[in-house]
Amino acid sequence: MAKPLQVEVYNPNGKYRVVSTKPMPGTRWINLLIEQDCRLEICTQKKTILSVEDIISLIGDKCDGVIGQLTEDWGEKLFSALSRAGGKAFSNMAVGYNNVDVNAANKYGVAVGNTPGVLTETTAELAASLSLSAARRIVEADEFMRAGLYDGWLPHLFVGNLLKGQTVGVIGAGRIGSAYARMMVEGFKMNLIYYDLYQATRLEKFVTAYGQFLKANGEQPVTWKRASTMEEVLREADVISLHPVLDKTTYHLVNKERLAMMKKEAILINCSRGPVIDEVALVEHLKATPMFRVGLDVFEDEPYMKPGLAEMKNAIVVPHIASASKWTREGMATLAALNVLGKIKGYPIWSDPNRVEPFLNENAPPPAACPSIVNSKALGLPVSKL
Ligand SMILES: NC(=O)c1ccc[n+]([C@@H]2O[C@H](COP(=O)([O-])OP(=O)(O)OC[C@H]3O[C@@H](n4cnc5c(N)ncnc54)[C@H](O)[C@@H]3O)[C@@H](O)[C@H]2O)c1
Repeated sequence: MAKPLQVEVYNPNGKYRVVSTKPMPGTRWINLLIEQDCRLEICTQKKTILSVEDIISLIGDKCDGVIGQLTEDWGEKLFSALSRAGGKAFSNMAVGYNNVDVNAANKYGVAVGNTPGVLTETTAELAASLSLSAARRIVEADEFMRAGLYDGWLPHLFVGNLLKGQTVGVIGAGRIGSAYARMMVEGFKMNLIYYDLYQATRLEKFVTAYGQFLKANGEQPVTWKRASTMEEVLREADVISLHPVLDKTTYHLVNKERLAMMKKEAILINCSRGPVIDEVALVEHLKATPMFRVGLDVFEDEPYMKPGLAEMKNAIVVPHIASASKWTREGMATLAALNVLGKIKGYPIWSDPNRVEPFLNENAPPPAACPSIVNSKALGLPVSKL
């Protein structure tokens, strides 16, 4: 038999057994669980990605709920194991849940939580950082400097793109896409073009008002446009950032044909999920179009990159760190723990997952509700009146 995975146990005599497949930042989430009579087991095994079998062994014979990670494959096998162990709750420590088969969870009556809202600004800030880094070739310039190659100022040295007055394109103008759009419009006075299945009314109002403000101050106003096709964004924008969910409709949304539609000096940013871009086609495009630049936080076959990507000077690559600010990661841990705890305690579902601040206030007890359960309707769970 395989050796059991290492775990750290808190409150061993707690009534409800909750498993976290990874240690998570902060201590509030731990305290919230143990104060509510949970025995918490945190897997501390030195293995970055746990297999389905690993997680089945962590679930064991009795488990009320699991907090898991986006690197794990939560499907039929895990939900049936959790259900057999008496579990009714699972939460991803992420807003995206493309690693979760929600139909399988529904079949076993397991609530699936995610952690929206708390990572919006942090993720948008990384997309903005990648946009600036790509526009001003910061990583290339840093490598040049450290390699001892700088021997004096030159007119042509690392010439990049000025963002002011250019057009930022956003594909998927939901929470994160809209926050990113605001940063680029407000911070760098870029014009906006976006594509989403739904109208981003609040974003449009913001850009209109900001444009009026600029005009009133004698500056060039910024503008916005809702594109009727994604292709329109690809053709018109100078910087394009991808923020849709990953599902069947967005898999390889950016492919060879669509890359060819983009401007030769365009910048493409991806802080959504890797498979939204056909990464093989991207590598070919980067080779053929040296002034085209890309900033990637996510990859098609994480943790791997497609062959050739690592060698491309016109690519900036970071290891899926878009939500990695202390405040956000601690908040994600709190929301994930409260999703699981709330379901165990039979609490109703918070009515607006975009308004999770009351759960994040460290100076007050959290509301008696599950912050965000994505299959609450399918399971017929009651909604909180708070
Ligand atoms: N890199 C990271 O660490 C990180 C961090 C947070 C979120 N994310 C990813 O970002 C995604 C978006 O998060 P969010 O909180 O903004 O979600 P959201 O639901 O608020 O926004 C997603 C938007 O995508 C739009 N959309 C869906 N299908 C589309 C399509 N085919 N074409 C265009 N738009 C489409 C939706 O209408 C919605 O407005 C998450 O699902 C997650 O995968 C990544």
